[in-house]
Amino acid sequence: MAKGSNIVFFCNECGYESRKWLGQCPSCKAWNTFVEEKVNTSSKSKIVSGISKSTVTTLKEVTNEDGERINTGFDELDRVLGGGIVVGSLTLVGGDPGIGKSTLLLQVCRNLANAGLRVLYISGEESLRQIKIRADRLGETNDNLKVLCDTDLSNIESVLKDEKPEFVIIDSIQTMYKEEVGSAPGSVGQVRESTNVLMQLAKGLNIPIVIVGHVTKEGVVAGPRVLEHMVDTVLYFEGDRHESYRVLRSVKNRFGATNEIGVFEMRNDGLREVLNPSAFMLEGRPVDAAGTVVACAMEGTRPLLVEVQALVCNTNFSMPKRTAAGMDYNRVNLLLAVLDKRAGLSISDCDAYVNIAGGMKLNEPGLDLAVAISLVSSFKNKPVASDTIVFGEIGLIGEVRSVTQDKARILEAKKLGFNRVILPEISYKTLCKDCKDINKEYGLTFIPIGNVS
Ligand code: TYD
Ligand code: MG
Repeated sequence: MAKGSNIVFFCNECGYESRKWLGQCPSCKAWNTFVEEKVNTSSKSKIVSGISKSTVTTLKEVTNEDGERINTGFDELDRVLGGGIVVGSLTLVGGDPGIGKSTLLLQVCRNLANAGLRVLYISGEESLRQIKIRADRLGETNDNLKVLCDTDLSNIESVLKDEKPEFVIIDSIQTMYKEEVGSAPGSVGQVRESTNVLMQLAKGLNIPIVIVGHVTKEGVVAGPRVLEHMVDTVLYFEGDRHESYRVLRSVKNRFGATNEIGVFEMRNDGLREVLNPSAFMLEGRPVDAAGTVVACAMEGTRPLLVEVQALVCNTNFSMPKRTAAGMDYNRVNLLLAVLDKRAGLSISDCDAYVNIAGGMKLNEPGLDLAVAISLVSSFKNKPVASDTIVFGEIGLIGEVRSVTQDKARILEAKKLGFNRVILPEISYKTLCKDCKDINKEYGLTFIPIGNVS
């Protein structure tokens, strides 16, 4: 290939590379995602030097021992990572600007530095003074925590080799650049190349590296989409800016389960773990009001109690109005149709608003029964006893189907002092097979339901 710079096109979604512009990406089938970039072909596949060579081994010889893990000082974060951060791994933390990524990672740095690890926080976004101001809000730090403001990856590479830190943060990947790649920082080519270099550094020097990635509006700069394929672990930090709590979610994890969540609360002095999110979510809920019921949803391996609220009223429009906050809009429509047809309620002509209180976003079929009950409760203006929790999926025939991990859900309800459980009949029967007197065993009253009618 000829030396010098060349124009290539990258897919913003998956990083697919093409010589010419394409309307649809042949790899991920997304439309209108190609962006033009100048790349320097002579330097493209340059490998980070000073890293040990690979050898061939038989699979039998390979031990399946878990890699060495470091505890981050946050139990919530450790659980999301699958029991701490793996040494030599590359982790991506994505999220909207201002959600608290830098705050979280600076706190992790602080925890690790206080535990005696040599930590390096590299920022390409903020000045040393800005980092200092933030760190002062978070509390004391010791000499183990070092900071560097740089965006040139060649510099960073040599710093890492000299300093040999035990934990590194790169904030953010969109500000990093490698001079040999012709394009601007934040472009797909740069992001891809920078991540590649960091991956090799993490593996070669055996340092856990965490990179921050901004989620941006389509097409402007390379979103973490491209990165997700390359890194070991992808965490998303989400939340409503008007609410104080934040949810950390793992969407990819080479060293643990995905879909695990950790809950944090943003305070004046940084993020605080919420060790009992169910209690936190249910705080201040209205008691004995029509249209509200507590549901038990699963997030990964963790049961989470949330309040489902519904408001059903006569419509003033030719087409009834519906909204769903925190859950799938189409699911609400479907449940209304099922209630109308199978339970014989003339609810379809009403306006219906459903809300998961607290701004939590859930996408779980186990929520169906709770949503249906809250809708009916509001429609009939009859409250559901406030010591009741509900879980179960609803099918199109109106049948209530079993959901995963019913025991975990029931135990969570018991832990938080609930007395009554409305659950699918099938789950109830399975539970009954396992023990003689189910009500006595759990100390709860069970209300099994087979069909919405
Ligand atoms: P930040 O970590 O800068 O977000 P990101 O790196 O994801 O862009 O978080 C910024 C927000 O967090 C900002 O609006 C102020 C708020 N914040 C607090 O409420 N308490 C604190 O102790 C800190 C450090 C920030
Ligand atoms: Mg930041």
